[in-house]
Amino acid sequence: MTFLSITFLTLFFLLLFLSIELQAYTPEDNFTISCGTTGIVFDGQRTWTGDADTKYLSGGQGSTVLTQAATQDPSVNQVPYTTARLSPSQFNYSFPVSAGPKFVRLFFYPADYPSFPRTHASFSVQSNGFTFLKGFNASLNADAEATKTIFREYVVNVNDGEILILSFTPSQPNSYAFINGIEILSMPSDLYYTSATDSTGFKFLGSTTLYSVETRFALQAEYRIKMGGQEISPLNDTGLFRKWAGDEEDYLIKQNPQNNDLPADTDGKMNITVNPDYVAPKELYRTARSMGTNATLNKISNLTWEFPVDSGFTYVLRLHFCELDPNINKDGDRVFFIYIASQLAENHADVMQWSHHQKGLAVQRNYAVLIPKDNTQKKVNLSLRMDPYATNDKTTYSDAFLNGLEIFKISEAGSNNLAGPNPDPVQTPHNNIPAPKGNRSSKSGTTSIIGIVAGVVSGVVLISLIILFLIVFFRRKTITTPKDYNKSKSSATSKWGPLSFTTTKSTTTTKSSLPSELCRNFSLAEIEAATNNFDDVLIIGVGGFGHVYKGYIDGGFTPVAIKRLKPDSQQGANEFTNEIEMLSQLRHLHLVSLIGYCNENYEMILVYDFMARGTLRQHLYNSDNPPVSWKQRLQICIGAARGLHYLHTGGKHTIIHRDVKTTNILLDDKWVAKISDFGLSRIGPTSIDKSHVSTVVKGSFGYLDPEYYKRYRLTEKSDVYSFGVVLFEMLCARPPLIHTAEMQQVSLANWVRHCYQSGTMTQIVDPTLKGRITPECFNKFCEIGMSCLLEDATQRPSMNDVVGMLEFALQLQESVENEKGEEISCDTFTSELSVTTTSTIEDHSYHYKDSYNTLLSWNPFSEITDQNPR
Ligand SMILES: *[C@@H]1O[C@H](CO)[C@@H](O)[C@H](O)[C@H]1NC(C)=O
Ligand SMILES: *[C@@H]1O[C@H](CO)[C@@H](O)[C@H](O)[C@H]1NC(C)=O
Ligand SMILES: *[C@@H]1O[C@H](CO)[C@@H](O)[C@H](O)[C@H]1NC(C)=O
Ligand SMILES: *[C@@H]1O[C@H](CO)[C@@H](O)[C@H](O)[C@H]1NC(C)=O
Ligand SMILES: *[C@@H]1O[C@H](CO)[C@@H](O)[C@H](O)[C@H]1NC(C)=O
Ligand SMILES: *[C@@H]1O[C@H](CO)[C@@H](O)[C@H](O)[C@H]1NC(C)=O
Ligand SMILES: *[C@@H]1O[C@H](CO)[C@@H](O)[C@H](O)[C@H]1NC(C)=O
Ligand SMILES: *[C@@H]1O[C@H](CO)[C@@H](O)[C@H](O)[C@H]1NC(C)=O
Ligand SMILES: *[C@@H]1O[C@H](CO)[C@@H](O)[C@H](O)[C@H]1NC(C)=O
Repeated sequence: MTFLSITFLTLFFLLLFLSIELQAYTPEDNFTISCGTTGIVFDGQRTWTGDADTKYLSGGQGSTVLTQAATQDPSVNQVPYTTARLSPSQFNYSFPVSAGPKFVRLFFYPADYPSFPRTHASFSVQSNGFTFLKGFNASLNADAEATKTIFREYVVNVNDGEILILSFTPSQPNSYAFINGIEILSMPSDLYYTSATDSTGFKFLGSTTLYSVETRFALQAEYRIKMGGQEISPLNDTGLFRKWAGDEEDYLIKQNPQNNDLPADTDGKMNITVNPDYVAPKELYRTARSMGTNATLNKISNLTWEFPVDSGFTYVLRLHFCELDPNINKDGDRVFFIYIASQLAENHADVMQWSHHQKGLAVQRNYAVLIPKDNTQKKVNLSLRMDPYATNDKTTYSDAFLNGLEIFKISEAGSNNLAGPNPDPVQTPHNNIPAPKGNRSSKSGTTSIIGIVAGVVSGVVLISLIILFLIVFFRRKTITTPKDYNKSKSSATSKWGPLSFTTTKSTTTTKSSLPSELCRNFSLAEIEAATNNFDDVLIIGVGGFGHVYKGYIDGGFTPVAIKRLKPDSQQGANEFTNEIEMLSQLRHLHLVSLIGYCNENYEMILVYDFMARGTLRQHLYNSDNPPVSWKQRLQICIGAARGLHYLHTGGKHTIIHRDVKTTNILLDDKWVAKISDFGLSRIGPTSIDKSHVSTVVKGSFGYLDPEYYKRYRLTEKSDVYSFGVVLFEMLCARPPLIHTAEMQQVSLANWVRHCYQSGTMTQIVDPTLKGRITPECFNKFCEIGMSCLLEDATQRPSMNDVVGMLEFALQLQESVENEKGEEISCDTFTSELSVTTTSTIEDHSYHYKDSYNTLLSWNPFSEITDQNPR
């Protein structure tokens, strides 16, 4: 024990020593403040100090509140986002710092806080005479950026004898100001500022003069990107805790497929020199984006990025280069033009020359450019274009490249303002499909930080999380009460989530701009006629979102399912538009078709095809319906799998369902399986790079991908996992969770894992299937199900593979059925199989070591023992 702890301690100090050694810069001042809390909290990497018991805070008299978000999104890091300081009156933070330039980093989590509604946050932030934010509508900005949290980084110089003040001022009488986290960090004085007398000022485009970033300006870091690579986390920076966002081609204009070559020092062996070493981490220079090797193509193309920025400001761009290409060895080997905002910045960019022929020596080039005020649009594009020096045949390579880029906005001279206008409200949140981009933006800040809270706070957070989960859990449970099953002759049990907001919400009346050819817009009168004025006897489903009615439209001939959203659900309001958007664009045999919607008089109503046979679950258990044959179950599985496969790959964007379960698989009169309820869907990753979408844990207990709810990684493989649970629900005819069961059997997924490993799968198969499944098919089916339930999401098959394998399983079933006639006789099979089985029919304790192979020797026709009652 002691030896171990000594080893650990040694290791710890060694690591500590190493990390200190690696940090190029040690900040003199460093404050990391978690607002609205007391004591010290730990985010897994750094400690944050609560602001409540510090002397930094003043103002916000009487009304300053320390509180937690009413509904903390589990995808949002706990530190510093769990708690906030909110106030309807001004409050200030004052930091005693040394003179010199400082990073000021602000962390916001716009959420509903007790008695502080999300949309009422509107405020200004000032610091030492500079305006960082003005009339900042936090929820509006987060929605426009499609992020949960907002991160802003500024650079401000503190003069001798000054203290650093951050002042938060609500912009209207009925609005409030808030902040979740503040970080103040010293930086080297020559990192971004240049002095007025310094001849090394920045090239000011469109002018012959040099531009100095004088200390009388403040800066806002707008973009900081590692080209062609993955992000560099704040901890891996040079001690300055900057986040270098990964390059996900978000801003790159693709001209030809070759235009994304990423020559890189892949093995990390190249010697890179950065001077001074705090300018950027060496890692930055190991990857680059270049044009590729096709010289013919490069002569007619160029490398272009477009960065949305506020107009009317001067911007400073720092381009990071490092020549590592083994083929480039002398001046003139790789030369290109650089244009910024369509103005020539370099007509002979030659990195070899800049680095004085030293391969691996990093060089930076700084430019300043004024983006003139454009009153016609809120954001304009700042373009960066690189063009190979095509006309000069002396260049060996007709190519251009870039390793890293930083873009800063400079405060307006005079007004000292950095704030831009609020973005336009996002009318229909998913209209332009702003895929929630996984790790895209520099603005999502430290979302990669693992939130771990130390000491007392951890307990509090844990408890509140548990409470949150319990709340979610009980809400789910109420939806799936047996009463629902009895009532629902048809489908459409769905949930729109909890939450509430006032009925006076303006969004409820805004007319949706949906294509009418895809989606019919019903009048409220038509809906009332169809449902006999929402007659209770027509209710076929009940959920947290409201009721589902069976109705008849078109003169009473066409039955439809009418989902009437409770008007008091904000979550619902979003999901309402979400679902219309999604469904109206998706058409597939195995998806429930949306016929139309009604958005009149605060009503939010969806009209679907009526599914005569209701939910799959009500044909499996807890109902009076006759059992479904195995072959039919296989066909239903295949249909549902095809529907999911279409969702994942059929559209322009991957759509992750997020709530695959047997109550969301509906059956029409011909037993065709249809996936329903896209209210919880999100647009998935748009490229391979964006391999997952971090988002709120939704979905139903018992079906949740463990990777999803542990690490908030959402991929289409999360649906595959849930589908695996569905497969075993079909096989075993039991709910995914039975709370009254023995510990081991509560969760179906865990239980089948256990049974599969111990070779006792046969004992948990639906008794009505006894003797009806061929061993080959059973074996295959279990194998498919188990592969869907694999812990490691990447090991799970795609839905396409699942479809293929299930079709094969069906073939295995049919081939035997055809041989043996419609029904397979239990006895025939038993005698056949007992030959290969080592255990006797009476002995039910099969213990297979290699479950995959030995499952073949499974005896499906033995009695199911009741030793482990389900
Ligand atoms: C920041 O300051 C704390 C003490 O206030 C210190 O423990 C920590 O090491 C400092 N961090 C850095 C990066 O200098
Ligand atoms: C906050 O700081 C500003 C600027 O220094 C000052 O004018 C204001 O009175 C301060 N407000 C409070 C509540 O301390
Ligand atoms: C913020 O923007 C939202 C969405 O446009 C709007 O509903 C809300 O009223 C705004 N909040 C304030 C305080 O202006
Ligand atoms: C996004 O982050 C995940 C892990 O956090 C990583 O696997 C993936 O490669 C990242 N994508 C990019 C383009 O940085
Ligand atoms: C820092 O970089 C190392 C090596 O690239 C990596 O293993 C580590 O996970 C990174 N740390 C963080 C906090 O991202
Ligand atoms: C990097 O530098 C080390 C020592 O300075 C040297 O041994 C090594 O060969 C160099 N590697 C490359 C790829 O130049
Ligand atoms: C370069 O691109 C051109 C145009 O696409 C193509 O015709 C040519 O075959 C390519 N050359 C090479 C070497 O790939
Ligand atoms: C850059 O490429 C685009 C598209 O290929 C082209 O329209 C534009 O003229 C090019 N610019 C220059 C300066 O060659
Ligand atoms: C900026 O460029 C992108 C990519 O070309 C384009 O989609 C967007 O509309 C442009 N924005 C403006 C304001 O021109």
